[in-house]
Amino acid sequence: LNGIKTYLEAKTLTDLWNGFYKGKNVLITGHTGFKGSWLAIWLTHLGANVIGYSLEPHTPQDNFVLSDLEHKITHYIGDIRNSETLQAVFESHKPDIVFHLAAQPIVRYSYTNPVLTYETNVLGTLNVLEAIRHTPQTKTGIIITTDKCYKNKEWIYGYRENDELGGFDPYSSSKACAEILVSSYRDSYFNTNEFEKHGKIIASVRAGNVIGGGDWADDRIIPDCIRAIIANKPIVLRSPFSIRPWQHVLEPLYGYLTLAQRAYAHGKLYSGAWNFGPNNNGVTTVEDLVTTLIEAYGSGEIDIQNTNKLHEAAILLLNSDKSNKLLGWRPKWSVPETVEKTVEWYKSYQFEDVYHLCTEQIEEYCNSQLQ
Ligand SMILES: NC(=O)c1ccc[n+]([C@@H]2O[C@H](COP(=O)([O-])OP(=O)(O)OC[C@H]3O[C@@H](n4cnc5c(N)ncnc54)[C@H](O)[C@@H]3O)[C@@H](O)[C@H]2O)c1
Repeated sequence: LNGIKTYLEAKTLTDLWNGFYKGKNVLITGHTGFKGSWLAIWLTHLGANVIGYSLEPHTPQDNFVLSDLEHKITHYIGDIRNSETLQAVFESHKPDIVFHLAAQPIVRYSYTNPVLTYETNVLGTLNVLEAIRHTPQTKTGIIITTDKCYKNKEWIYGYRENDELGGFDPYSSSKACAEILVSSYRDSYFNTNEFEKHGKIIASVRAGNVIGGGDWADDRIIPDCIRAIIANKPIVLRSPFSIRPWQHVLEPLYGYLTLAQRAYAHGKLYSGAWNFGPNNNGVTTVEDLVTTLIEAYGSGEIDIQNTNKLHEAAILLLNSDKSNKLLGWRPKWSVPETVEKTVEWYKSYQFEDVYHLCTEQIEEYCNSQLQ
């Protein structure tokens, strides 16, 4: 209830955290990636001491590189599968809060590289949980999994946090395994019944298909569209009619930041799993999303090939009532707004200071009316 009261009294999103992150030691795994780089920028903007642990960025155009995060945070290149180097970073920096995002996150890649996918997503998560367990100063761990961790039953309504876990492809299944692992650690080592003894809260978070500026990953719809438009080629759609919960990257990040603050400040109620999905109007087909992007960009054409041979769920929705009711979290940007902000990044990154571009978008998001 404390959290809800704070939410109702807040005028902007930044008010919600009320200086909480200033001076906190926050460790992000996966900070060189798409979501991790935005989270690192947001936390730096809030005055946190950010420590990052990841592999090298993929391309010189990555958000991490262009926003010069290497010189704004404490930056480590390290493999999440290496428990010793990870533990050494925990020992050096004694993080108050950990956001674990490092993963092999691409479904199609997981079909050809299942072992690497499970090692990274499951054993990597195990190493993070162990490091949290052995670091007394670490009070809050937010483990990022995915909406794909649910056993997909092609329901036309959203999955709830206590629905059955599963996963057809190796990526989805590896994230469901990570969820089971987190749950076991929560029961065995971070049990809320013994909170007074260990003082730690561990939550897992499941967001939808995230889009925004600075993602250049292979085999993701927005980077694929941008690469095709820049190369003046048609945008090939393999599964145009798949329905997905689209959301701007800032939406789940706002959820993760709110959850971590509440867990750190208020404890027990925030242990467990949390969904952060879009409203119904954020749920559209791949083709509709790409059509909106073409309109916003002012160029591009679709080439529907329907050639997808790999299994992909036709429909996937998330129910976010729990985050809504207990955190006061709700999505703020519609699909057209989300696409507009995404296009703004890709049209500006060559001409503008990218750190400034991102913090401006974060400010706009924070100053949007709470709905
Ligand atoms: N992008 C989405 O739509 C989406 C949706 C749901 C969940 N997620 C989850 O969010 C997280 C971040 O995804 P993203 O979209 O930013 O992916 P990304 O590929 O852009 O970033 C992945 C990050 O993980 C790091 N990493 C990968 N393997 C590693 C290893 N062995 N050791 C250390 N670091 C390693 C990379 O260096 C990078 O920093 C992932 O856990 C992903 O599963 C993403």
